[in-house]
Amino acid sequence: MRDLVVRAVVPEAPGVVTLRFDEDLGALPGQFGMFWLAGVGQRPMSFSFSDGITVKAVGPVSQALSSLGVGDRLSVDGPLGRPFSIEGSSALLVGGGFGVAPLRFLAERCNEEGMDVRTLLGFRCKDDVFFEHELARFGDVYVATEDGSCGERGLVTCLFSAVSGTYDRAYTCGPERMMAAVRDALGGAIPLQVSLERYMKCGRGLCGSCEMDGLLVCKDGPVFDAAQLGPSFGTAKRDKTGRRVPL
Ligand SMILES: Cc1cc2nc3c(=O)[nH]c(=O)nc-3n(C[C@H](O)[C@H](O)[C@H](O)COP(=O)(O)OP(=O)(O)OC[C@H]3O[C@@H](n4cnc5c(N)ncnc54)[C@H](O)[C@@H]3O)c2cc1C
Ligand code: FES
Repeated sequence: MRDLVVRAVVPEAPGVVTLRFDEDLGALPGQFGMFWLAGVGQRPMSFSFSDGITVKAVGPVSQALSSLGVGDRLSVDGPLGRPFSIEGSSALLVGGGFGVAPLRFLAERCNEEGMDVRTLLGFRCKDDVFFEHELARFGDVYVATEDGSCGERGLVTCLFSAVSGTYDRAYTCGPERMMAAVRDALGGAIPLQVSLERYMKCGRGLCGSCEMDGLLVCKDGPVFDAAQLGPSFGTAKRDKTGRRVPL
């Protein structure tokens, strides 16, 4: 566990902020940290920058993290977990909701490696859209919203026809049913990596709370090759008590 100081707070969208820290943590795209606030609790957060995270305020810990100001302190265990594999010369990135956060960091690194990067983003509505311009620094970006208030109307998979072509790798992060739809739409034509989210207590492979078809999401993932995943992908998760529940 190490201590960090917030050096910048950047509002991205209503309820979504990026926190940049005083220290570069040497994280790789796809890795996460267990971020801990004294008296509140700890939660896993993906790195959206090598020195930063992007948080959506939904409950006690994420709200407390989102309320931090410049100079405030927090602690982190990490970077943890398996990162994305960056290979080939062209990449298709598909993100939805706050799953867009780790894809920003991935797009930056793919771009540094000289890869051709195209990103598809899906949100519920215009107010939820973030990182569209940030991601456009690294390649072409296409947006879909469910209500049509920004970009194409529909789910992110409706953008596939706009980017038909060949890619060496595809990467996805976002709501799990969206990622399962991305896998089905690609139909195995491109090697696909998915970044999963499960309830995590320890983040280090010790407690078993993130177990999924024999895999530990915190240690074996959170990034997996789509072909590695079993029947729970897109259908089931464990709740805070460890009980298997539908997604
Ligand atoms: C590997 C990994 C990476 C993650 N990366 C990020 C990240 O980059 N940014 C980020 O904001 N969060 C991220 N999360 C989610 C984060 O760890 C917490 O689950 C989330 O912030 C909610 O925690 P909480 O204590 O605020 O609320 P909780 O009390 O845990 O949840 C409050 C309520 O919100 C619901 N909820 C939980 N998450 C979401 C959500 N994303 N959208 C809508 N409702 C939700 C819960 O079901 C519950 O009903 C990641 C999780 C994992 C496992
Ligand atoms: S969170 Fe404890 S084993 Fe994964």
